[in-house]
Amino acid sequence: MFLSSCRIHNEEGTGKSPEDSLKNEGQDCKAVIYQSDLQPTSNVVNMNDTFLKACRGEKTDYTPIWMMRQAGRYLPEYQKVRRKLSFLELCKTPELCVEVTLQPVDRFNMDAAILFSDILIPMQAMGAPLEFHDGKGPVFTETVRSKEALDKLIIADPLEETGFVMETIRLLRQELQVPLIGFAGAPFTSATYLIEGGSSKVFWETKKMMFTNPALFHELMEKITETTSKYLLAQAEAGAQALQLFDSWAGVLAPGDFAAFALPYARKIIEDLKQTGLPLIYFANNGATLLDLSVSSGADVIGLDWRININDAIQRVGNKAVQGNIDPFALLLPKDKLRARIKRVLDDAQGAFGHVFNLGHGIHQFTPPEQAKYCVDFVHELSSR
Ligand code: CP3
Repeated sequence: MFLSSCRIHNEEGTGKSPEDSLKNEGQDCKAVIYQSDLQPTSNVVNMNDTFLKACRGEKTDYTPIWMMRQAGRYLPEYQKVRRKLSFLELCKTPELCVEVTLQPVDRFNMDAAILFSDILIPMQAMGAPLEFHDGKGPVFTETVRSKEALDKLIIADPLEETGFVMETIRLLRQELQVPLIGFAGAPFTSATYLIEGGSSKVFWETKKMMFTNPALFHELMEKITETTSKYLLAQAEAGAQALQLFDSWAGVLAPGDFAAFALPYARKIIEDLKQTGLPLIYFANNGATLLDLSVSSGADVIGLDWRININDAIQRVGNKAVQGNIDPFALLLPKDKLRARIKRVLDDAQGAFGHVFNLGHGIHQFTPPEQAKYCVDFVHELSSR
């Protein structure tokens, strides 16, 4: 967006391209983008910053909405792109990542975009061999369950190993009129994929390592944490305007184990990211029993799944914004019932320090797109102040 505001400036003024102007002034364009994005308020012309304001607890004209996993298979236009290449190829093709990131924003009038990528991309960058199998999800063909396997993983350099993600962010900022959310997996969730070798229901291998070889588990978490901090700092530098940590599997842990094995690493990343000045969102899925601990992560915005009443959560979260929280399957309700449910969440969230409307987890792949449209429209209409 800095580039596009440069472009607007250019059209009105100098007649030079923004890169030329910066070169002439002896400046590095990339460094300027970083500086501008460290400011809490965007300097983008015509930028809808309702989402950023809500994250910071500032007054907004209405409640902003985006949906976790808003770009994806429930959209026919996504499937059309996806038919041409594999999921991982798509993740590594910035122009197409831009296209699919914009699809839900354009179709539904979302108040934020989320970078199209996957939480497992930085794990692959660490050297873990990743494949995606249709119908089965992600598979790491070598698991990390020993010191030897752990020692093979590198601390990934974000520009060298995941430059395509940063390029996607730079390109998106030239297109978007709403803020761009960057993201990564929280270390615990990322670790489960490396240890289990893919998705899991019981997390047998993960818990086995936690309880029988905690030193190895903590060493793995440290390596993931360092990689993730660098990765998110690079996203901020490339132009991301908010950052979300997805802790999709935090809810399988008892509070004491979450506090000992998962939270310190999420907290470390959040501390490392404070220097960016960007709103930081921490989403612990199935985390109602972990809420007080999640608040202590230091994040600015606490993501809520649908298993907790948003008003109860707000009482416990205090002076921080919340994000959530209707059941993704509520999108299947008839229109009037969906509307009533959205109204209830908006009413219950009246006292929030800040509220970003979202689903309590990712949108399901069989959701009819028109239902997502109703949801966005109802949130905008019912929250208009
Ligand atoms: O729109 C967006 O939200 C941005 C893109 C995004 C994807 N994955 C694209 C994707 C985001 C933010 C993610 C995060 C992600 N990835 C999480 C955390 C959020 C959550 O749902 O808990 C997790 C656990 C993953 C790991 C992952 N990626 C799994 C388990 C799977 C397979 C299951 C599934 O939902 O398909 C993926 C694949 C994936 N990631 C797809 C998409 C669009 C489907 C790939 C395809 O086109 O076949």
